Amino acid sequence: MLLNVLGSGADGIVCLSVYPGLTMYNYRGFCYTDGIIALEAITMTYQQILENARKSILNCKACPECNGLGCGNTLPGPGSKAPGNGAHMNWQAWKSIRLNFDTFVEDGAVNTGCELFGKNFAIPLMSGPIGSMTQYSKEDVTVAFNDGVMEGTAKAGAIDCFGDGVAAATLPGALASITRHHSDAIPVFNPMPNASIIRKMEMFEESALAMCVVVDSAGLSHWKHMGEQPGSKTVNDLKELKSHTNKPFLVKGIMTAKGALQAVEAGADGIIVSNHGGRALADVPGTAEVLPEIVRAVKGNTAIIVDGGIRHGVDMVKALAIGADAVLICRPFAVAWFGGGAEGVYTYIEKMKTEFSEAMYMVGARKVSDLNPEMVRYSR
Ligand SMILES: Cc1cc2nc3c(=O)[nH]c(=O)nc-3n(C[C@H](O)[C@H](O)[C@H](O)COP(=O)(O)O)c2cc1C
Repeated sequence: MLLNVLGSGADGIVCLSVYPGLTMYNYRGFCYTDGIIALEAITMTYQQILENARKSILNCKACPECNGLGCGNTLPGPGSKAPGNGAHMNWQAWKSIRLNFDTFVEDGAVNTGCELFGKNFAIPLMSGPIGSMTQYSKEDVTVAFNDGVMEGTAKAGAIDCFGDGVAAATLPGALASITRHHSDAIPVFNPMPNASIIRKMEMFEESALAMCVVVDSAGLSHWKHMGEQPGSKTVNDLKELKSHTNKPFLVKGIMTAKGALQAVEAGADGIIVSNHGGRALADVPGTAEVLPEIVRAVKGNTAIIVDGGIRHGVDMVKALAIGADAVLICRPFAVAWFGGGAEGVYTYIEKMKTEFSEAMYMVGARKVSDLNPEMVRYSR
């Protein structure tokens, strides 16, 4: 059991976060000398989530701005591969893109909704897969983390991605959580031998929104000490995987137009433009730098999702204006969960919705399909 005292105010008010297993509950109660009575569930602000996360998260400072500087090359941990600049370069690349105001537009409410893989969502946002939460915690809380993120994303109308990790309990746990929360979830499989991925895909054939294989994980140094080893995939390997599922098939870890075209040749219904948050190779471009050429190569032939340093609604507007169909965010979801469980995840997504909606309004977009390249400019 993990128990955080979130803070205590005047008049005996005490706030507690109790994590007894799968779910994290946040309570406020009135504290008398002989105990606490009248407990009630509380909603938290994003600031409280950050402060609370700092009490239990390891290797991460839960920075006000998650820009890769605080964690540097902390591996194991959430950092980037040495010298540790990859996550920061991703973040920086979005900051070098500017937005153009456009206020000469017919007024109206903004709709952040979108359609992806045949389903409607409230926001084109996916939570990123974290295969093992031992990067953030001494206890392996991966099953509880996946459960909380699925609950929070489902409540907020977003998509969940989860990793296959290393612990035997991870995938059965995720399967149970999909059912429990009616989650639109995508398993992201490491590039292990095809037979192993096919076995895992079969587990999720009924319940997953889509299937995804991440092709850049072979660059992660921590795999070297584990049993089954990831390796690189050919177009034919990916074709074989695609042929074993009726679900949309995604490839994560695309950083070149050539790679995007090869994923499309393999039959990918979606690609995730990603450098694994800078964890697989240093000195690669930020994902925002390569997104335009990938959009030119494959837009219309496959769904394009992008991740890496996307932190605010303005970053989402930039990504979708350039041509992405959705974004994926990873590290902030770990912080949101440590800070507030499923409620923290939900609060974080609601914050992103507000920011995204406000930024859409100011560039003249009233719906996601209004976003276009004229809304951005590049600062060199
Ligand atoms: C601690 C940690 C573990 C991760 N584990 C996985 C994984 O198992 N599978 C995967 O495809 N990506 C994994 N990633 C990469 C993320 O899903 C994502 O691609 C990357 O972090 C970029 O997004 P961000 O800048 O929003 O964090 C991991 C990232 C972190 C920080």
